[in-house]
Amino acid sequence: MFSKNAKIFVAGHKGLVGSSIVKKLISLGYKKILKIDKKKLDLRDQNKVLNFFKKQNIDAVINAAGTVGGIAANNKYRAEFIYDNLTIQNNIINACYKNKVKSLIFLGSSSIYPKNTKIPIKEEYLLSGYLEKTNEPYAVAKIAGIKLCESYNYQYGTNYKCLIPCNVYGQNDNYDKQKSHFFPALILKSITAKKKNKKFITLWGSGRARREILHSDDLADACIYFLKKRTKEKIINIGSNFDMTILNYAKLILKEIDYDCEIILDKRKPNGTFRKLLDSSKAKKYGWEPKISLKDGLKSIIKKYS
Ligand SMILES: NC(=O)c1ccc[n+]([C@@H]2O[C@H](COP(=O)([O-])OP(=O)(O)OC[C@H]3O[C@@H](n4cnc5c(N)ncnc54)[C@H](OP(=O)(O)O)[C@@H]3O)[C@@H](O)[C@H]2O)c1
Repeated sequence: MFSKNAKIFVAGHKGLVGSSIVKKLISLGYKKILKIDKKKLDLRDQNKVLNFFKKQNIDAVINAAGTVGGIAANNKYRAEFIYDNLTIQNNIINACYKNKVKSLIFLGSSSIYPKNTKIPIKEEYLLSGYLEKTNEPYAVAKIAGIKLCESYNYQYGTNYKCLIPCNVYGQNDNYDKQKSHFFPALILKSITAKKKNKKFITLWGSGRARREILHSDDLADACIYFLKKRTKEKIINIGSNFDMTILNYAKLILKEIDYDCEIILDKRKPNGTFRKLLDSSKAKKYGWEPKISLKDGLKSIIKKYS
């Protein structure tokens, strides 16, 4: 559907997901990858975003820009999580429509599904129950983005697809102690414990909450695959089809870095949603499946940060 000369704007190209997308596009031979720094274009600025789109002749957009983080950041910076994400996605989606951009990939998140829902979670469970309180502002913004895409598709016949990934990890992850997701946080804690010969690491919550994780290079692959693929459904879960408790992830990381220490569970801290394993059978039906095993993905990251 897209030639290698198509101009593809990757919003958020420096982030975990965006940098994997750029890497994948380059490896596939795409020649016109459009990137712009946040300092030059704050995507919350509607006029600047409209002018940028007007000047460029963009064929497709992958939106990997947003305010993103783990449970602590989601809970603390609630205003930024809802305002930034709503504004960035409104500006990008509307600019796509106004400038006749043919295709757009919008990224949701498994946190948009109800806190208590059937597992594995199907796309149609969206809006069937209450959200998890700690990330409600972020989830509400993401749901609004999906509804915006759905409405433009319905009213104007656009082809805007929403991919709903599980937790993502990868080479360019956020290792900021306050903002990181559980997996990079665990890797950082474990490597630091080993370096400083600490006797224990501490996990938030009971350790019993289960999480599904996907390598950012797999998500990048899915973004490009579905940008090109004709699909009837426009909301598609993208997961690894496997989840595990946070405690077991911690044990796996410690084993992988060859360090033995106690794991303390801080049960005063929130768990977040207990389980959010996605049903990714729709993606599989369209011919997409993840390729990077947890063992290989983890090994490559430990190598980088050890
Ligand atoms: N990470 C996950 O576990 C996960 C899971 C599911 C879905 N997603 C979704 O995937 C997308 C990308 O997430 P990520 O983990 O790659 O996040 P990330 O690493 O934090 O990257 C976000 C990117 O957005 C850019 N950005 C933020 N605010 C901006 C603004 N106002 N103007 C221009 N650029 C701005 C950042 O620029 P700077 O680098 O200059 O700050 C960064 O490049 C998000 O939509 C997220 O919701 C992520």
